[in-house]
Amino acid sequence: MTADEFVRQLGEEHQALLRRLEPAATLRPEVSGDLTVVNLLKVALKNEIEATEIAARWLVTTDDVDVKMAFARQAGDEAKHYRMIRDRLRALGAPAAAYANPLGKGYGPLFHYLDSLKTTVERVAAGQFTREAIAVVKNRQFIEFCERAGDRETAALYRDVIEPDERYHHQLGRELLLRLATSADAQAAARQAARRTLELADELQRAALTTAGIHHAPGC
Ligand SMILES: [Fe+2]
Ligand SMILES: [Fe+2]
Repeated sequence: MTADEFVRQLGEEHQALLRRLEPAATLRPEVSGDLTVVNLLKVALKNEIEATEIAARWLVTTDDVDVKMAFARQAGDEAKHYRMIRDRLRALGAPAAAYANPLGKGYGPLFHYLDSLKTTVERVAAGQFTREAIAVVKNRQFIEFCERAGDRETAALYRDVIEPDERYHHQLGRELLLRLATSADAQAAARQAARRTLELADELQRAALTTAGIHHAPGC
């Protein structure tokens, strides 16, 4: 199929899967224990560092200028999100230890998987097109969570800055996929990488739910 058909099909498959994560389905307040804006922002902080570093690693290993600059833009945005979230944690009165070393326990499984991808078409399919589509859904849930918790400022930060950026990262991934997913092989590799990313996101969500009762940590 053409790249156009492929990207449309992949996008539709994603939407069908991501609907399972939609706010209405998962945001009925199962909020228990210490599920707070602060604790969710701590999860977000680590995600932003990992997203920054993956994009930065990928930007130096391609000669394709459009790809390089798309990853550069993403790395800059994720670093900006990191700083805004850390400042928000400070403003919320979280102790410095809460955000001193988000990578203290090492990188997560999604980071390791993305880091293992070798071709640009897989990277764009997994790290931008798919991961950022997941982020948009999760951030919408998080905004709703913040509003329920009465934290309008964090909700506004996500609604006005972070969520539009993540949506743009997904758009960058779409544009690059349209250019790169032109052969059957490239499409198969892209589909496989996208699938694994969705699986990992699903597994991580399940694990977070089991260990910490977290349903809707924000994504990047
Ligand atoms: Fe981000
Ligand atoms: Fe992003």
